Amino acid sequence: MKTVITYGTFDLFHEGHYNILKRAKALGDYLIVGVTTEGYDNSRGKLNIVEPLMERIEHVKECGFADKVIIEDHMGQKIEDIQKYHVDTFVIGSDWLGKFDYLKEYCEVIYLERTKGVSSTLKRKEEFQLIRFGVVGSGRIATRFVLEARYVSGVHVEGVYNPHIESAKKFAIDHELAVYEDDYDSFLEKINAVYIASPHGTHYEYAKRALERGRNVLVEKPMVLKKRDAEELFALAKKNGCILMEAIKTAYAPGFVRLIALAKSGVIGEIRDVEACFTKLTGDNTRELTDTEYGGSFTELASYTILPIIKLLGTDYKNIRFKCNNTQNNLDGYTKAYFEYEDAQATSKTGLKVKSEGQLIISGTSGYIKVTAPWWKTTEFELCYEDTSQNEKIYNHFKGDGLRYEISDFVSKVNRYGNNDFKLTREDSIAIAEIMERFLKEHRS
Ligand code: CTP
Repeated sequence: MKTVITYGTFDLFHEGHYNILKRAKALGDYLIVGVTTEGYDNSRGKLNIVEPLMERIEHVKECGFADKVIIEDHMGQKIEDIQKYHVDTFVIGSDWLGKFDYLKEYCEVIYLERTKGVSSTLKRKEEFQLIRFGVVGSGRIATRFVLEARYVSGVHVEGVYNPHIESAKKFAIDHELAVYEDDYDSFLEKINAVYIASPHGTHYEYAKRALERGRNVLVEKPMVLKKRDAEELFALAKKNGCILMEAIKTAYAPGFVRLIALAKSGVIGEIRDVEACFTKLTGDNTRELTDTEYGGSFTELASYTILPIIKLLGTDYKNIRFKCNNTQNNLDGYTKAYFEYEDAQATSKTGLKVKSEGQLIISGTSGYIKVTAPWWKTTEFELCYEDTSQNEKIYNHFKGDGLRYEISDFVSKVNRYGNNDFKLTREDSIAIAEIMERFLKEHRS
């Protein structure tokens, strides 16, 4: 009996998939089809998978050529499978030509001609409207966004808005964008989604005006600085059938999602303490240290540090106390925030003028989890116990600096698939806005 194996994501099952499975089956007697998990695809930078794994498996089964369906969830698995199932022939489409020659040591490798004119990427484009992003602001984060958006299918960055037309023009030229505007209304005419990366104090107004016009909105952290503003924007988004999402990239990073789920699953017992620190030494002339109304380390960085605290301990804290070291213009160069919960506590440390160890420690009744810097781009963490022989390191690599996962989740929200809401809920964003408001009220007065 000749055994053939092939692999794929098989998202939105199409003619190309059907053809390759038919030809693969004809090459032998028994066909094994490996279908990739979402986690594996995410880690290798293949984003925007529309259908869940079980649905993709069903479609592979329905076409009737597969004798066995297996799940592919890690790099290197192909060699294991080929040996395990005594595979004679490995088959893959010609788009992978040469990439799997290393398998020739284990079995025959055949690249089959791809079916022309069809792919999951094309189908996604046909099925869903293209998200035509306009970027509000043209600073460093805006640049990163434009570069990372190129890795996400279904998205095109059309243009940029900046009240200073020369800055907008320069940004558009640098990034080859067709549109640049200093008039917000005519800018909104030309796009169907905005990414707001302007100074904190302007987020609310830009988001509101975009939502009023029925545009989907991705807004940098902190989304807004008042609880009431956050509630109002979410209500407006709902009324106008738009997506409003806060861009805290950590929340969407696959490693962070896994970290939170694992910590909540009881591997370190009951969680009693969360300590999160993020510091970034910054020059005195930067926006962060000159904007006397909304600058400072807490508004700049605490969206990151508050995130694990509220994800793990919830938003029902009893009290928060802030201790700040101020700069000459009365902005916080360093802030330690103490959160008191019924059965737990937490601290957030943020600094622009103080450097500290940027780590996240989650302490529980039977162990702790240590995540070293840059924990906000979570790729690895360690479960630590009294008996250190039980310690375990967990790795979860992803591509880029995490932004593309956030953009990909925005795409799935706009297109209403993927159920990714849990990663950063409306309530989470409102809670962060409330904490920011409380900080500004206490600290700036
Ligand atoms: N395939 C094919 N002809 C196509 C599309 C895919 O022969 N028109 C093959 C691929 O070469 C691979 C298998 O089908 O061997 C599964 O491919 P997959 O990556 O799941 O599908 P794509 O349509 O290529 O997906 P995407 O656009 O997301 O890359």
